[in-house]
Amino acid sequence: MPENKKELIIIAGVAKNNVIGSKNQLPWHIKEDLKRFKELTFGNPVIMGRNTYESILQALGKPLPGRKNIVITSNANYQTNPETLIAHSLQEAIQKAYESSDKAFIIGGQQIYQQAMPLADKLEITHIHRSFKGDASFPEIKGEDWLETKREEKKGENLDFSFSTYKKRPQSLKVNKNGIFIAFEGIDGCGKSTQIRNLVEHIFNKSKYNHIILTRNPYKNMNIRDILHQDSDPYSQAEKLADLFIIDRKQMAEEMVIPNLEKGHFVLSDRYKLSTIAYQTAQGLNMQQLIDKQNSLPDPDIVFIVDISPEEAIRRMKKEDISIRGKEHKFEASIDFIRKLRENYLKAKEMLKDRKIFIINGERTREEITEEICKIFDMEI
Ligand code: ADP
Ligand code: TYD
Repeated sequence: MPENKKELIIIAGVAKNNVIGSKNQLPWHIKEDLKRFKELTFGNPVIMGRNTYESILQALGKPLPGRKNIVITSNANYQTNPETLIAHSLQEAIQKAYESSDKAFIIGGQQIYQQAMPLADKLEITHIHRSFKGDASFPEIKGEDWLETKREEKKGENLDFSFSTYKKRPQSLKVNKNGIFIAFEGIDGCGKSTQIRNLVEHIFNKSKYNHIILTRNPYKNMNIRDILHQDSDPYSQAEKLADLFIIDRKQMAEEMVIPNLEKGHFVLSDRYKLSTIAYQTAQGLNMQQLIDKQNSLPDPDIVFIVDISPEEAIRRMKKEDISIRGKEHKFEASIDFIRKLRENYLKAKEMLKDRKIFIINGERTREEITEEICKIFDMEI
């Protein structure tokens, strides 16, 4: 998020049937939820409708302490506590909040939530895992607009609930799908597989409701593997390999990437379009043509290129147990070839300037690399 960006956060407790209140009161009493409400909102302006405000006055005998209370009413002569700010529209309330803070919370009720949904950046929702009778409800949280980035399950005395954080999906990720597609690239031995495993753990830790699908290229056509092992000349069979890899990738996109993104899942791929662009260009084909040939394939939301020197790649592969790694193939033999690969990856990033491609320095500890990747992931998603 750019600095100075203002953040509008909706905070609400929502029952299984979307009920948020009954006669201007919460239908449940959950201490831990009240505590969380206070922790999150304390020190920040809170925006609410008149009914919600008056129910707070009734309950506490005063506005919410430690927070600038901003109340929205259509009544032009509304009189209340002198500390409370009065606004006559949501826009005006937000403007007033931002005068003194970079963050503002919308705390209810139904109408204000509805108006604020399209404007909010984040939702802090306490999902109550039971239905309640009530007369006010929360708007639908649509998967195409919101991504649940965190969920904490809680067991109450006789009521289970969970704390969920949702973030507004960036417009760029909204191309007709709900899921997130991430590709890992780099020369063999750069540490892709290791980092994919770590990112999976990171995504799963955010919420066990995140579904994560792993895939790789080559996807199904194992003849490609045979070709890679048939002869050791890294420069031979370039056209054929490019075609086979691209056909195989199309099949992967149709059979598994697109359907899983439509279901809102995370799809992580070990190698994707950039591999063909880097490897087959290193074999002598034209980079722009390899880019154009793959234009109809879906682009990942994020690409991580794990970058290491050819010398380090060779060192790591030598160390690795051959029974795990499989036998050496044609691209692993020549350091000059690996040098070209690395240059091609960097050049491809320059040629694809509008895409979200991140070069990650892979010559650090696994933990340091994972930390950077997760940080970028959190920022972008
Ligand atoms: P890839 O999938 O890109 O070929 P791997 O994740 O399998 O790469 O890693 C290749 C080898 O390097 C493995 O033996 C792995 O344990 C080791 N390795 C991975 N990351 C690092 C790192 N940051 N520092 C040192 N060795 C690493
Ligand atoms: P990989 O499955 O990582 O090989 P292995 O597990 O046997 O080490 O990838 C196979 C090789 O194919 C790898 O060196 C990169 C190369 N390759 C291409 O040349 N073009 C492509 O489009 C892809 C996806 C991989």
